[in-house]
Amino acid sequence: MTGTRLSIGIKSVTREAGVSVGTVSNVLNQPDRVSAPTRRHVQQVITRLGYVRSESARQLRAGRSRIISLLVLDMGNPFFVDIARGAEHAVREAELGVMVCNSGQSPQEEMDYLALFAQQRVRGALVTPADLSGHTLREFRRHGIPFVVIDRVGGEEEGCSVAVDDVAGGALAIRHLVSSGHRAIAFVSGPARLKQIQDRSAGARAALADAGLPPESMRELPVGRLDVAAGRDAGARLLGLMERPTAVFCANDLLALGVLQSLYAAGVRVPEDMAIVGYDDIEFAAAATVPLTSVRRPAATMGTLAAELLLQETGDRASEHRHEHVLLQPELVVRRSSMTAH
Ligand code: RIB
Repeated sequence: MTGTRLSIGIKSVTREAGVSVGTVSNVLNQPDRVSAPTRRHVQQVITRLGYVRSESARQLRAGRSRIISLLVLDMGNPFFVDIARGAEHAVREAELGVMVCNSGQSPQEEMDYLALFAQQRVRGALVTPADLSGHTLREFRRHGIPFVVIDRVGGEEEGCSVAVDDVAGGALAIRHLVSSGHRAIAFVSGPARLKQIQDRSAGARAALADAGLPPESMRELPVGRLDVAAGRDAGARLLGLMERPTAVFCANDLLALGVLQSLYAAGVRVPEDMAIVGYDDIEFAAAATVPLTSVRRPAATMGTLAAELLLQETGDRASEHRHEHVLLQPELVVRRSSMTAH
């Protein structure tokens, strides 16, 4: 009975075939170095026992894995799915594979995955860091795991980065709302420790100042997570404000969709009673009940560029690689959620 039983190791084959480990290895890797009768005999034993060569053991011997890991903050966020699609496009071109992992915004989870990547000796890692102290990235380097930072402007001399100018993105959102006549604007932000959020806030406040408006006039509603549930909660808080804003900028589209749900449930009209602007321009932004105005970030392009940089750093011409920090520009996509009636 043939079948692939994962417990069958190369030693079972050598015992059954009466040959050395070297002979079995040659039959698998360099069959022309084994006589035809011996080759046939060993191959029959391999088939009969259902022996499967361990790809990870082969990769370890070869010194380089064919797997690149992608460690994202939130697999529930379509923004990171688009990044993964872009990364996979480049990696598959190189006949390699992508292992997608989720830190859930947890620095501890991130470190746990580092141990797995080191154990599996992945070729390299694409990372949107949850830990902002730089400790995780230093540990990646200490374990000899090349990395490219995605979605954060690189300050790491030890690795490449691909990001979008979030300061410009925050400014785009607010300039649009101010030019639409809004003066009472709220900002539903995310975890203040995330550089991406800090930059969006800084850009928003700079745009207010450029318009001659006091930056502190923007009412910030911080949230702990960048997801729809946090957006719903923020929407409820907006509704409870004594002085309700006429517009709200959300740090990403999931928050904006949550805010939209809360306002809709409370009978607050969007954009008539409150305009909404999101961030990322994920696929669901355009498909929302009230199509969402959003600051578009080329997520798939980010993933492809980051993967290409990592492939350069870990490929046959690695010695020629020089770290790069790529900064892409966002663009505003205006839809009904912020259009003022003219
Ligand atoms: O990476 C942090 C945040 O930036 C994510 O929520 C994502 O949506 C992007 O906007």
